[in-house]
Amino acid sequence: MKVFLCQDRKELARLTAALLAEQIRRKPDSVLGLATGRTMEAVYARLVELHQKDGLDLSGCTTFNLDEYVGLPASDARSYHAYMQTHLFHPVGLSSERTHLPNGMAESLHNEGVGYDAAIQAAGGIDLQLLGLGENGHIGFNEPLSSLASRSRAVTLAPETRQQNAGLFDGNPDSVPPRALTMGVGTILESKSILLTVSGSAKADMLRQVLEGPMTAQISASALHFHNNCLVLADEEAASRL
Ligand code: GLP
Repeated sequence: MKVFLCQDRKELARLTAALLAEQIRRKPDSVLGLATGRTMEAVYARLVELHQKDGLDLSGCTTFNLDEYVGLPASDARSYHAYMQTHLFHPVGLSSERTHLPNGMAESLHNEGVGYDAAIQAAGGIDLQLLGLGENGHIGFNEPLSSLASRSRAVTLAPETRQQNAGLFDGNPDSVPPRALTMGVGTILESKSILLTVSGSAKADMLRQVLEGPMTAQISASALHFHNNCLVLADEEAASRL
């Protein structure tokens, strides 16, 4: 893994967006793996700016998001479908045929996971996967002790994850759905390149464990050491314990 330090949140978002833009310009029909969360809001805002001011054209891209809550329909404002629509897909005019998120309302969650991995493969695999880092080391919603070879599937969320993501649910962790569908760690590792973007002091201890500690299923992000084209971008706060 290569690590690049940015001064602050703003520079981190600009650099992450610039690397995504470079991928899109180099290969206009790129398959992008996308993430959600607070860190990514500034990244997508910058990407939208590049679209509006610099004519960055995303219309040829295909996207696959990492995860979605089980039990939330796409029409629910708290779903990741809605998040992506608001922050990226609508502002850059990406049509729904080209964007994919797991369906949290699927009748068979097992089939949904298997089908999601098959759809990624049918699209030719992910060229660039964007990742955030959970405070417990999760990538996507691969909570501690997920198999490092795991495939896309339904998972139970850790209490700390429901706590951290309560913001969208009136601040109440009990209102956060207890389950989610996520790309597996093994699925993520099949991406041709990976960008892990980490910001803020709350992630500092975990980033140190990911980069300097052992590879362990206790910390899903540590599996990124297996990947030969993974860049970690961190702001000064996130890098403060390195
Ligand atoms: C959620 C998402 C992850 C994301 C993480 C970090 O749990 N499922 O994909 O990386 O949050 O989010 P934040 O940037 O809000 O800290």
